[in-house]
Amino acid sequence: MLTLAFDVYGTLIDTRGVVSQLQTMIGPQAEAFSRCWRDKQLEYSFRRGLMQDYQPFSHCTRDALQYTDNLLGTGLTQAQQAQLMQAYTRLPAFADADPSLTALQTAGHRLYAFSNGQEAAVTELLQQAGIHGYFEAVISVDAVRSFKPCPAVYQHFLHSARSHRQHTWLISGNPFDITGARHAGWHAAWIQRDPAQPFDPWEQQPDLILPGLEALADNLPAT
Ligand code: LAC
Repeated sequence: MLTLAFDVYGTLIDTRGVVSQLQTMIGPQAEAFSRCWRDKQLEYSFRRGLMQDYQPFSHCTRDALQYTDNLLGTGLTQAQQAQLMQAYTRLPAFADADPSLTALQTAGHRLYAFSNGQEAAVTELLQQAGIHGYFEAVISVDAVRSFKPCPAVYQHFLHSARSHRQHTWLISGNPFDITGARHAGWHAAWIQRDPAQPFDPWEQQPDLILPGLEALADNLPAT
């Protein structure tokens, strides 16, 4: 039995789920907008972590939305921005999430959601996406007022889940999260959602690289 800490945004939940709504607002710029919004949201979390100037992840998301609108000159109204923030609380799960979580639960692993998002926001998101019931708990970085990949957030997870790093795997589509977990002494499986994306050439490399969540149950070590 392993403890599996699932990253949420970009691993279980598809942040590109806002693209169709963006298309109705700004047409062909929707894809570029969605990418910039997500990249800037993460950059803001990294910067706030380094500056030790914590604000909830939703604050980073809102600031990144405004930045992207300013950068691309899309002129979104306050009402449209509010609609997009609302859409972000109802993002869809990736299609492979539900069957893979079923298989992993059946195999007897302990499943947790582990996210930059606040506990209430992530709980609502997973409920909306229909996959909340798989998890023993939602563990958020909010308790330590920093963000991934700060070592304190991985320590907080181990403490909250009462798990040892040797039996703990991070499952994430986000390379910076994988390097953070490996740096903290965990195992990690990188879900390479985009086949064109290389992994960072750092000292910390994933134990497993998989194209999706489906292959996970068969590739984790037996315990
Ligand atoms: C999360 C970020 C990495 O869910 O998107 O923690």
